[in-house]
Amino acid sequence: DESLDELALLAESAGDTPVAKVIARRPAPDAALFVGSGKADEIKLLVQAHQAHTVLFDQAISPAQQRNLERVLGVPVADRTALILEIFAARAQSHEGKLQVELARLQYLATRLVRRWSHLERQSGGIGMRGGPGEAQIELDRRMIDDRIKKTKERLKQVQRQRGTQRKARSRNGVFKVSLVGYTNAGKSTLFNALVKARTYAANQLFATLDTTTRSLYLEQAGASVSLSDTVGFIRDLPHKLVEAFRATLQEAADADLLLHVVDASSPVLEEQMAEVEKVLAEIGAADVPQILVYNKQDLLADDQRPREVVDAMLRSAGTTEPTPRVFVSALTGSGLTELRQLISTAMQTQPLIPDERDPRFDVDPTDPESSSQEPPQA
Ligand code: GTP
Repeated sequence: DESLDELALLAESAGDTPVAKVIARRPAPDAALFVGSGKADEIKLLVQAHQAHTVLFDQAISPAQQRNLERVLGVPVADRTALILEIFAARAQSHEGKLQVELARLQYLATRLVRRWSHLERQSGGIGMRGGPGEAQIELDRRMIDDRIKKTKERLKQVQRQRGTQRKARSRNGVFKVSLVGYTNAGKSTLFNALVKARTYAANQLFATLDTTTRSLYLEQAGASVSLSDTVGFIRDLPHKLVEAFRATLQEAADADLLLHVVDASSPVLEEQMAEVEKVLAEIGAADVPQILVYNKQDLLADDQRPREVVDAMLRSAGTTEPTPRVFVSALTGSGLTELRQLISTAMQTQPLIPDERDPRFDVDPTDPESSSQEPPQA
């Protein structure tokens, strides 16, 4: 099961070592334990045999199911969302990335907290007991979390305003913007490094990159530079709140003039992964940004699986008539990178640059430090 393998890779990214996998088939999840009680016993035996310290569920479990499972299994229980949040929290580096993770965690907590206390809420219903201890506690916690959510949102907005100004400054300079997008582990950071020879972190872990890195990339073929951004990896079932929280980071992709959609060509499920990326791109309004499909990791393919031509084109979806250019590369060995640079140059030359439209007499943005460089008002 690919999804379960991916959960194992996620667990490794969080520093855990997966020791056993269990698959349960049920017509519907059990209300109390998510799995049946027989399955729960089986998991408990595995926990004991391997001295496991955690049990991870691939599907979302409710707070009540989590509590019941923890009681039965005797170890902490978490689901995919909680695990992803944990990894994001450990990896975020920029101020903005950290705030985004903080916001996603608070929002996740807010939904769970309310239900965690609901058993107390019900107990407090006796005569003259309105607003018993449970209710007071939930109200307090809820208000505290709401307060922190509000503060984090405000701080995030501030950081994003500064970032927006930087972005605007770049687009006014007429720089052609290229963003790398792709399923997590497709090789975006490795390709980014190979193209700009910078050292971004690349690891065989999911979500090694959480923040956007941007570098200038010189293209000999075009005799010009473009800006190249590495973005966060996309993944199936990316919790909705997380897409929301990372909207600003992902926005970089929507603002790009060209997307390099990096695909792990050695993955047995590359089509599903590509579809997942297209889905997120549509969600952030980047569905119409021109793409180049970069089929990476060619070195892992057997000779007879490798294409004869390094460059071709394909229709990305049934509804489209315009084929998307495709290039087969290995970010590791460097094969196909010259052709990729050529494709980027061509895309840049066929898409006319918007000239510097700034005219100090019009559209002065008061939040933009660059536009306030006019004559100071007379005293
Ligand atoms: P996220 O940050 O999780 O989104 O990952 P990413 O898409 O940035 O992938 P990254 O560049 O970190 O690469 C993931 C793994 O694939 C690393 O172990 C790389 O060394 C490996 N890798 C990347 N490109 C190639 C390639 O062309 N060939 C081979 N064999 N491995 C590659």
